[in-house]
Amino acid sequence: MHTQIVSHDLCLVQRHSGTGARSGSPRQNVLRSRAPRGTYAGGMSAVEDFTRFPIDETSRAKLAESGLRYETLEASDAAGFAAWARADVRGFLAAEPSEKYLEGMRASLGYRRTTGVWDDSAPQADEPVATTSSWPAELTLPGCTQLRVWAISSVTVSQARRRRGIARNLLEGELRTAAALGIPLAALTVSESTIYGRFGFGPATFAANLTVDTRRVRWSGPTPSGRIDYVSREQWAGQIAGLFDSARTSTVGEIEGWDGMWPRLAGTVHDEEGEGKKLRAVTYTSESGELQGAALFKYEGGDHDYASHTLSVEFLRTVSDDAYAAIWRFFLEADLVSTVKAEHVAVDEPVRWMLGDQRAATVTTTDHQWLRILDAKAALEARGYASPGVLGLEVEDALGFADGAFLLTVASDGVGRVEAVERLPEEVPAVRLRVDALSSLLLGGVAPAALRAAGVLSELTEGASAQVARLLRVSPEPAPGIWY
Ligand SMILES: CC(C)(COP(=O)(O)OP(=O)(O)OC[C@H]1O[C@@H](n2cnc3c(N)ncnc32)[C@H](O)[C@@H]1OP(=O)(O)O)[C@@H](O)C(=O)NCCC(=O)NCCS
Repeated sequence: MHTQIVSHDLCLVQRHSGTGARSGSPRQNVLRSRAPRGTYAGGMSAVEDFTRFPIDETSRAKLAESGLRYETLEASDAAGFAAWARADVRGFLAAEPSEKYLEGMRASLGYRRTTGVWDDSAPQADEPVATTSSWPAELTLPGCTQLRVWAISSVTVSQARRRRGIARNLLEGELRTAAALGIPLAALTVSESTIYGRFGFGPATFAANLTVDTRRVRWSGPTPSGRIDYVSREQWAGQIAGLFDSARTSTVGEIEGWDGMWPRLAGTVHDEEGEGKKLRAVTYTSESGELQGAALFKYEGGDHDYASHTLSVEFLRTVSDDAYAAIWRFFLEADLVSTVKAEHVAVDEPVRWMLGDQRAATVTTTDHQWLRILDAKAALEARGYASPGVLGLEVEDALGFADGAFLLTVASDGVGRVEAVERLPEEVPAVRLRVDALSSLLLGGVAPAALRAAGVLSELTEGASAQVARLLRVSPEPAPGIWY
């Protein structure tokens, strides 16, 4: 199987972002590697036609047994897309959307493969009883290599048809479709952490939620010389795409965004309730005039005591340590604000070391992005490694995609080669684990010792989990990445 990998030569593992972002000094981040390059057989990839790729026949036949129709939808079908989008919005419990909102969804998300399940006997037969959408997107792996993964979103099943196996058919259909397209990894962000393990997904990035009591903060970080400016939300949405791309290609765990995402974040479209007006936008520009950071935030509360507003950081990405420090300082020293909240920041967010009082921040963590390896060789060969060595992996995959024994050999340049073998050689450190656990380990953000202690990973040779850590773990921790 051939996999398309876009490599960034001499890419340092570093991060400069918040709310799914962070910073690190290039000097401290020594892992570098070149990814192997590959192309799909036949030049242009089947992925180019992913919206028209045939629907998975196994799931189609199973759903048809229950009288259900499993099909993809062309985005050019405006009425069909609006009915699909209504079902999607209802599935996530939001209010009934306007026609304008639905048209906005089509403009923004119509590039994806839009799939639904229809019950032709239902009173509203045009509205699907289940939805998914999926698309190929670059994900940044350790070594800052870019792997094209199968991103999945909009997974809903009507409350009126729940727990009859419809989601199972949709998910398994998505995985078989991705595998047929030659994509080695599926990815999603989740509403609940209880759903996707059974399909072989494991949590691979984690998010911290920070609440900072700003009255306790005595800024101890650097004082950069660039400038912070308010910009309009329209200006912000127009500038962020390029900045985000620079940040995400040097941030393990970040996935590609899409054009319609930025105005939506800035609340300049898709804003039925007028919530966007609460948002403020700022940028950081270096002394030499380079845009290095951008953030969206809003103020809440302050009703009874005007000096006790909460500043909620909605989005922050930076591409330099200066921008990172300057924007955080701007937030933490804001007048009339007593609390700064930021959700979905990295678990090792550097700002905690800039507060002067670590206990000014309360931190909770949660799983965020889940991955599912479909092709173990391609996925493991796509990332860079911290140190050379050999590791045996016995992988159990109930759905069969990545089942088998694999020998990973990492050379001194950080490039890994994987061989599928009948039996692992006895002298090699080796572990046995399910595919969801291997998927959790892929980005290097999970401690193998914890998985061993939890019984999720078993050592076939004593002490082998330490070898997994030596080869796979990365620092800084993978960023949580965007919601999608
Ligand atoms: C989550 C959802 C898609 C599940 O759809 P469904 O058709 O009821 O699921 P299925 O009947 O195919 O269930 C497949 C398996 O997952 C389990 N499952 C489904 N939803 C679950 C949930 N929310 N929590 C725990 N287990 C769940 C089922 O029990 C079943 O387990 P089994 O195979 O071991 O018997 C549906 O409940 C839904 O639309 N929820 C609201 C939107 C949402 O949260 N979507 C997920 C976005 S990331």
